[in-house]
Amino acid sequence: MNKTPRKKTLAVAIHSPSAHNTQPRVFKILDEETLEVFYDPSRLLPIEDSIWRFLTATMWMLVESIHIASNEYGYLCEVDYPNTLMLYQAVKNPIPKYFCTIKRSFQGKRIENRFSSDDILWRSTSRLEFDWEPVGNDIISDIVSFVSTSSFRVYFSDNKETISSILHLNADTIFEDLRIKETRDEIWWRSRYSNGEAKESGDGLRAKCMNISGLLMKLFFRHNWLFNLKATFPFSKSLIMKKSWWVGTVCRIISDFQRPDEWFQSWRDTMKLWLLCHQHGVYMHPFGSIITNENTNKQLRKLIDIHDHDPENLWLVVRLWKSKKPEKSYRIPLDQKILWE
Ligand SMILES: Cc1cc2nc3c(=O)[nH]c(=O)nc-3n(C[C@H](O)[C@H](O)[C@H](O)COP(=O)(O)O)c2cc1C
Repeated sequence: MNKTPRKKTLAVAIHSPSAHNTQPRVFKILDEETLEVFYDPSRLLPIEDSIWRFLTATMWMLVESIHIASNEYGYLCEVDYPNTLMLYQAVKNPIPKYFCTIKRSFQGKRIENRFSSDDILWRSTSRLEFDWEPVGNDIISDIVSFVSTSSFRVYFSDNKETISSILHLNADTIFEDLRIKETRDEIWWRSRYSNGEAKESGDGLRAKCMNISGLLMKLFFRHNWLFNLKATFPFSKSLIMKKSWWVGTVCRIISDFQRPDEWFQSWRDTMKLWLLCHQHGVYMHPFGSIITNENTNKQLRKLIDIHDHDPENLWLVVRLWKSKKPEKSYRIPLDQKILWE
């Protein structure tokens, strides 16, 4: 095995997911061994993600993707990072902020790893309509066994009542969040209403990926009141519910981590979980709003019997399902993400 340019692994790793496809990461390639990773403060979501939960997720999923892609070319990665929950600065000032340093060393061979660059390249989020079918027990067993060595626990439900309550909560929370103008504005700038726009920017939530028309998406953000009238609300809500109604399996991810590094590792393991689902032909779709909205998060904990005094931290709820192949979301070309080399 010969040495491979660092850029080759980064070209794969930038396909890792990010909240609202904001892709906040930027890179400084100091030399072929040393990479510094930064985040761009102008790409954060300070209103929706006020405690930077999803930024943390996005950045650590990227780190895991760099690790997997580097291994493919025979490199071992070591990550050096400030071991604190960082106070991210979401400011208009677009000067990149330091996140971590990744040093790689050439081993000359690939270490056995269940995941590959192809998994990272081909994984995606599907929001297409769904044919009812719970995820099979064989897949659940594989996920449970995989997760048993990771830093969190997963619980599955295919109980229709529980799922229906979670879906209602999710749809209500999306509407509640988006009644606030500042939240709508934040997403407005992150949304791409036509394919041309999405392709040109290489980022953002593409209407086609959201499985709604660009016009309707625009209308929703710009004239939100129209969707919240007594007469229209049931129809608007059913539009969101329709997209996710027939959910076979919901999975909640819980941990009782004590230290920041355990929390970071949880997100790295979540990336692996996402890839594992992909390997089984299962799509993982996060329900982000019910986690970031603190009120809803409390209701959700009650709904699934986690009590207030319980230390368990419910930090992700996802639906798992089989889907037709969705539209791929775009990525900003790697060259625009490299600050310095
Ligand atoms: C931390 C995190 C939270 C997310 N939350 C949501 C969500 O609430 N709803 C949703 O439809 N997609 C959610 N996503 C999926 C992203 O929108 C998606 O990864 C991004 O648009 C890129 O698309 P891809 O996954 O198909 O590559 C989330 C992704 C991450 C990393």
